[in-house]
Amino acid sequence: MTKPILKVLAGESLDRPPVWLMRQAGRYLPEYRSVRASTNSFIEFCLDPEKATEVTLQPIRRFGFDGSILFADILLIPMTLGRKVWFVAGEGPKLDPLSAADIKNLEVGDVEVILGPVGQTVANLSAALPSETTLIGFAGSPWTVATYMIEGGGSKDRWNARRMYWESPDQMARLLELIADATIRYLVMQANAGAEVLKLFDSWAEGLPPAMFQDVVITPTRRIIEGLRAAGIKCPVIGFPKGAGPNYLPYAEQTGISALALDHGLDTIWALDNLPRDLPLQGHLDPAALRAGGPALDREVDRIVAAFRGRPHIFNLGHGITPDVPIAHVEQLVGRLRG
Ligand code: CP3
Repeated sequence: MTKPILKVLAGESLDRPPVWLMRQAGRYLPEYRSVRASTNSFIEFCLDPEKATEVTLQPIRRFGFDGSILFADILLIPMTLGRKVWFVAGEGPKLDPLSAADIKNLEVGDVEVILGPVGQTVANLSAALPSETTLIGFAGSPWTVATYMIEGGGSKDRWNARRMYWESPDQMARLLELIADATIRYLVMQANAGAEVLKLFDSWAEGLPPAMFQDVVITPTRRIIEGLRAAGIKCPVIGFPKGAGPNYLPYAEQTGISALALDHGLDTIWALDNLPRDLPLQGHLDPAALRAGGPALDREVDRIVAAFRGRPHIFNLGHGITPDVPIAHVEQLVGRLRG
């Protein structure tokens, strides 16, 4: 009996789409907050296989989602390039800002050792999950990870990263290759530990001129897919170039990705008309509709399910669930989908 998510990723369209939610392990769950409170730092939490396994399983126990995404963070990879990463409560991630001149000194370290605890979490999950639940591993895409490394944290417009592309294109290309190479080793480790699907989060794929999108998003993503395939990893890979708009199409055609996660800003009809018919699609409920709940949530869920009927579709949000979402709204969503 094949798991529903794996069926969809193999190209089947199911009457009721399988469902999981981005950031499903998180602060909207009291049981998550309680484990989080027992940790000294967010990074230490991500690298604690016992706690990371526990919080990954929490939303599966509560809602019975079809997919279980490993609890970790896309900002662990900079550590494998020798960069410091820390999280400040109420502010988010912080890193030592990286300049173009710093890039020549970067090298990929012992990924399998530095992030070995994440491999252990995946192995724990592989043994613990119900037989119908698909285990999803993930990493950030090189461009998104690079923006955090260059900016030294989150930023509104990623100005320094965008400037570096134009001012120091060779250094930018080198940085993206280094991140891609570390990411390949990280994802190979996850797949070998039992991840059945891999997902690449490119949260900052928005607002890039097409030729730049090609260089910073498509080329490094293709490098990762080719690296995984060369290493014998056959798992489907879901790509999430958030905010890419019409650039979703060259992304779908050129990266070698097996499925696409759609953000909530993308026009559903455009996606159905323009993306390859046999490409599995995931998404794309507005997280604010989940926060709202009530009849508006039901209507929007119904619209999305009806639109994707007959196509291979996994139901998800268009971005992560927010900490203010009542648990009852998640139950409403799952109930509506399962009928
Ligand atoms: O989806 C899941 O449940 C799996 C775990 C997961 C986390 N982060 C846990 C997390 C995944 C897949 C991520 C991806 C991630 N991390 C992305 C890409 C997706 C996206 O949201 O665009 C990005 C950009 C990050 C970087 C990051 N991590 C930021 C900017 C922050 C701070 C903002 C925030 O929401 O607090 C984090 C922290 C983080 N990662 C939390 C969780 C559950 C909350 C931290 C906490 O518990 O204090």
